[in-house]
Amino acid sequence: MQSHSLLKGKRGIVFGALNDRSIAWKVAEKAVAEGAQIVLTNAPVAIRSGEIYQLSEALNAPVIPADATSIKDLEQLFTEAQEKLGGKIDFVLHSIGMSPNVRKGRTYDDLDYKFLDKTLDVSAISFHKMLQVAMKQDAIAEGGSVLALSYIAAQRTFAGYNDMADAKSLLESIARSFGCLYGSKKGVRINTISQSPTMTTAGSGVGGFNLFYEVAEKMSPLGNASADECADYCVMMFSDYTKKVTMQNLFHDGGFSTTGMSAEAIEMFSQNCNKE
Ligand SMILES: NC(=O)c1ccc[n+]([C@@H]2O[C@H](COP(=O)([O-])OP(=O)(O)OC[C@H]3O[C@@H](n4cnc5c(N)ncnc54)[C@H](O)[C@@H]3O)[C@@H](O)[C@H]2O)c1
Repeated sequence: MQSHSLLKGKRGIVFGALNDRSIAWKVAEKAVAEGAQIVLTNAPVAIRSGEIYQLSEALNAPVIPADATSIKDLEQLFTEAQEKLGGKIDFVLHSIGMSPNVRKGRTYDDLDYKFLDKTLDVSAISFHKMLQVAMKQDAIAEGGSVLALSYIAAQRTFAGYNDMADAKSLLESIARSFGCLYGSKKGVRINTISQSPTMTTAGSGVGGFNLFYEVAEKMSPLGNASADECADYCVMMFSDYTKKVTMQNLFHDGGFSTTGMSAEAIEMFSQNCNKE
């Protein structure tokens, strides 16, 4: 893997590497290739599947299990990560999303509200929890960079994205609110990256995902951004080249978010119309 030593000497925590399709998996690989030392973490239930240990071995990165909704687990994680890495943390990736409503096929007009609580807690409030724990422990170094992954359904409605859209709106709002606080107190920057549809376990759980993926591909002048390309962007955001970028939702989507209708999409839709 090509390296520019962009993260040389930096210490990071990467949440959410489930398998080798996970965006977090690619970020972990690139961060280490760029010179960082990292700790990998995921929910105990995800760690039991065992795949994370292959990554851990390949990157010489310890695994510390933590349910990102548990304050106790997060406190232990930040304490242990600083011990294992030998100092304060320079970057954190929140790459976590899950909706029981989506999983159980509950539609947006028939939500189970206990499930909704869980969606918001896992996919958005966990971001607040990890930031609050980190700040109380003063665990993030001056100038540190924290990222969470989002999706454009936070701004515009996408059929089937369901209550994850509400979670992503909240996630982006937390990045702004906490970014303002953490920036002025400790110089820590906090952003979200709004990524194209990507073929991962979480992504393909969304109803009609294959069609989402195909339409976005046609609507994006540069095509969909891959997980590897997302990892490149994350590395840049963790690096010292983006020191004054904070409280932003950064679209990494091949131009999808500012395209009204592309020639490729018109062609795709007109082929469908002509069939009828
Ligand atoms: N795949 C896409 O199309 C797409 C597009 C835009 C944004 N995103 C976002 O990217 C992020 C990563 O998802 P992915 O696509 O790599 O899928 P993924 O399924 O590989 O990753 C989701 C991760 O969330 C973890 N997780 C779930 N509950 C948790 C908990 N309680 N505590 C800790 N971790 C928990 C899972 O174990 C898993 O590792 C998510 O926030 C997702 O919404 C994905």
